[in-house]
Amino acid sequence: MYLSDMKLGPPLLLCLAAALSSAFVISPPHMWTKLILTHHWPNTFCVMEHCHSNISYWAIHGLWPDKGTFCNSSWQFNSSLIEDLLPDMEKSWPNLLKPLTTFFWNQEWRKHGTCAAKAESLSSQHKYFSKALELYHKLDLNGILRKFNITPSEKYYAFSQIEGVIENFYGVKPKIQCIPPSKNADAQILGQIEICFNPDFTLLDCEKHGYWDNHLAVDKASEFHVCDHNIPVYYPPLS
Ligand SMILES: *[C@@H]1O[C@H](CO)[C@@H](O)[C@H](O)[C@H]1NC(C)=O
Ligand SMILES: *[C@@H]1O[C@H](CO)[C@@H](O)[C@H](O)[C@H]1NC(C)=O
Ligand SMILES: *[C@@H]1O[C@H](CO)[C@@H](O)[C@H](O)[C@H]1NC(C)=O
Repeated sequence: MYLSDMKLGPPLLLCLAAALSSAFVISPPHMWTKLILTHHWPNTFCVMEHCHSNISYWAIHGLWPDKGTFCNSSWQFNSSLIEDLLPDMEKSWPNLLKPLTTFFWNQEWRKHGTCAAKAESLSSQHKYFSKALELYHKLDLNGILRKFNITPSEKYYAFSQIEGVIENFYGVKPKIQCIPPSKNADAQILGQIEICFNPDFTLLDCEKHGYWDNHLAVDKASEFHVCDHNIPVYYPPLS
């Protein structure tokens, strides 16, 4: 449309409305802008939740969009829709509280998956869970930490050692969470590592667009806190 075609009044409004609505197609205000792939260390999770785990690798906790929870209560989890993924799910996204059940996946789908699914790229259970597995394997956090000699140990790490390895390798800032030291303890316990993605699944600093982060802290792992940079870190081996 050319300016010379426009009269003042309704046509201008129509034009504005069209411009606005096309902007919303690109980025609707309710749409998430960041995805968080959360890994947890089963041993630490089980210290908190009083479970027992014999898993000695970082496992998936969830794939969380930065906006919304429980976005569609009528969209039930159905494991037969992801049957081909189940062997990998059991290994990479294990249910630590109720082993060999679908309870955890069901909960993650209803709380976070139904919100992630607002994006076309994640608009089915199969797309959502397979993307989480794909990102987890691509990142290979377990391999990277091992490669740079960050392994479970009775000796403590400086927080900057762990953060440095992740930040240098991926080129973005992770969010790393710990259980704060209990009264007489001299170290915090490493528990959760979040790596963040743009909607196109390229890597993103976790701090960016972080205003929603506090609202995500309502997950089961609510006793995790962002690790303190000045307190030694215990990365607990399998007992
Ligand atoms: C861990 O425990 C599960 C269930 O108790 C068992 O099936 C599995 O073989 C164990 N894995 C290892 C590595 O010991
Ligand atoms: C919610 O999920 C149901 C079942 O998959 C679907 O039919 C419906 O369109 C969804 N609603 C919204 C608002 O996405
Ligand atoms: C789960 O999905 C399968 C395959 O689409 C379908 O046959 C079945 O009825 C669904 N189950 C429920 C409880 O919706």
